[in-house]
Amino acid sequence: MAIRGDGALVGTVAAEVAAATAAHGGSFSRLESGSGVADADLVLTIIEDDAGPQPAAAPAPGDHATTDDNAILRGGCVPITRDGVVGEPEAAGEPEADESFRLSRDDGSVVVEAACDRGLLYGFFHVVRLGEAAFSGPDLVERHAPATAMRMLDHWDNVAVHAVMGQVERGYAGGSIFYDDGAVRADLSRVEAYARLLASTGINRVAINNVNVHAREARLLTDDLPHVARIAAAFRPWGIRVHLSVSFAAPMTLGGLDTSDPLDPAVADWWRDAADRVWAQIPDFGGFVVKADSEGQPGPFAYGRDHADGANMLAEAVAPHGGLVHWRAFVYDHRQDWRDRSTDRARAAHDHFAPLDGRFAENVIVQVKYGPMDFQVREPASPVLAAMPRTRVALELQVTQEYTGQQKHAVYLGRQWSEILDFDFTGPDSDGDADSASRIPSPTSVAGIVAPSGGIVAVSNVGDDEFWTGHPFAQANLYAYGRLTWDPAADAVGLLDEWISLTFPGAPADVVDALHTILDESWETYERYTSPLGVGFMVRPGHHYGPDVDGYEYTPWGTYHFADRDGIGVDRTVATGTGYAGLYPEPWASVYESLETCPDELLLFFHHVPYTHVLRSGKTVIQHIYDTHFEGVERVEEFVAAWERVLGSLSGDAMSDDDAARLAGRVSERLAEQRRSAIEWRDQINTYFYRKSGIPDEQGRTIF
Ligand code: GCU
Repeated sequence: MAIRGDGALVGTVAAEVAAATAAHGGSFSRLESGSGVADADLVLTIIEDDAGPQPAAAPAPGDHATTDDNAILRGGCVPITRDGVVGEPEAAGEPEADESFRLSRDDGSVVVEAACDRGLLYGFFHVVRLGEAAFSGPDLVERHAPATAMRMLDHWDNVAVHAVMGQVERGYAGGSIFYDDGAVRADLSRVEAYARLLASTGINRVAINNVNVHAREARLLTDDLPHVARIAAAFRPWGIRVHLSVSFAAPMTLGGLDTSDPLDPAVADWWRDAADRVWAQIPDFGGFVVKADSEGQPGPFAYGRDHADGANMLAEAVAPHGGLVHWRAFVYDHRQDWRDRSTDRARAAHDHFAPLDGRFAENVIVQVKYGPMDFQVREPASPVLAAMPRTRVALELQVTQEYTGQQKHAVYLGRQWSEILDFDFTGPDSDGDADSASRIPSPTSVAGIVAPSGGIVAVSNVGDDEFWTGHPFAQANLYAYGRLTWDPAADAVGLLDEWISLTFPGAPADVVDALHTILDESWETYERYTSPLGVGFMVRPGHHYGPDVDGYEYTPWGTYHFADRDGIGVDRTVATGTGYAGLYPEPWASVYESLETCPDELLLFFHHVPYTHVLRSGKTVIQHIYDTHFEGVERVEEFVAAWERVLGSLSGDAMSDDDAARLAGRVSERLAEQRRSAIEWRDQINTYFYRKSGIPDEQGRTIF
């Protein structure tokens, strides 16, 4: 193997290759920039003007982009040095340094070329992923580039253990990898390993603290900067930039001012100074994430200002450094009166943000949850994503399984995310569908809207747990998320199989089959045994685990199902309901408005119907509820059986007895809990609706 070129991340690649050859054999040489490329099975090289290869004559099948020439590969390279000093400050809104690479295979020898060191890192991981397959097969030339420059994970980690939310808000994988009981960890080796893991999936930005910024966490911006700089240094060799969540009230709580009014010059000065101090210590710092005027967090409303006023003031402070402001659109009234049926939480983000389109500064990204409510197992795509064409908009997903089984349940979310990314605002069968050959998302799909400037963000699921993610299978979600940010058109089931084969290399076929069986349709399975037909929630208030049909029904949180003896669902039509359906462009506004055309899986999100309403599937709503809940549990029982069948095959060449025993123990314990919980969901939901409706199950199964 040979590596040629300069740049800090080339050093990272060289260290990886050196370690790999030391462990597995083979030799490796690091070539001076400018020298000729050696004859080797694998050459990883930065393109150099003199020695650079010629453009490929024609795109080969499998090319991941429409154009393929050196000019594009070279464009915009901004090398990052070891200290994080960027060559030149990036102008606000400018794309990242070039991350693309070209892979060519000629007679079994592979060459990876990139204009920038980041591209070389991604090209290296691409070859690792392919393994032996990289070196076999016909000659080819492929260009690979990420669909979006913004591929981010947010951590909801608290520095100090929060009385209710703990060390990691909505964390299900032990403690924080960054903080321990009030302080940044001295030992960041887990963070270094995490950075490597994330880079191998394509992630390039990480926000390291909770969007709910409490007093202790606010100080990351000031007193703790040297520690934030240590964290940034752990991520830097892997091409990942660090961001901080900040409190809008910081000028008061940290700066001693008597206001946080975004139009007050003293406030703007305070933020400018704060930003200057951050970038002085961390030259490649990414920017600020802000949750403002949401769920009790401070914001511009207190001063009669709006979200654009608030975001733009921060944007101006970070602009000289090429920084970004991720301003979250998760804003709604969490003190609403459940008696008032005209207030609809689903409308809130659209009502607040759509009118502000065009007013946000160039370096503001409005970060929008995928659905209008809150990371439910099934929601329609948020109409906000399509409502702000003059704003940089990011999609926000949740890898941590707050509402999808809290990493006790095996739920592979790749399929859900694919469905959201593919959702096309111009209609179900529009011509704009992603062209799978070019891998370029349709510009009117969610992926196509966010990719050019906003990107994709998700809440991480990682902690200090020995398996990193609590449920070992939840690693598949972290993996698939990263891969989808790079290529939103990738097949989610293919990514699952990729994760299985990379995580359990050499595992016997029956083990691979069992893993696939358990995870492949696990999202749909979870949906079956929990809240039906898009109605959402029905979870225990507070911790959000397990069934509680009326848990939120009479609370101020705005998450209602309105079940009575006659029917269930939320009327969000324009004709008779909250009007939410009308926030979509056509044809979706009409599709959702009509009972005839609304997809079954979202029926109760958009309509209040009698239990006897016949779905498009031909079943009544009540029978659908019974059937799916019985089926959901049956599927989980199949998962348990599939796992039990392969327990004896886990150890072998691929895994030591000890590792196999630990894995078996953890997965078996989680599957048992999933089964228990699924039964509880089934029985509570079926019983609740049987008692409400008085309509028996056609099949006479046991309902209590
Ligand atoms: C959910 C979650 C909160 C979180 C919030 C957010 O409501 O339960 O813990 O703070 O989302 O996204 O800000």
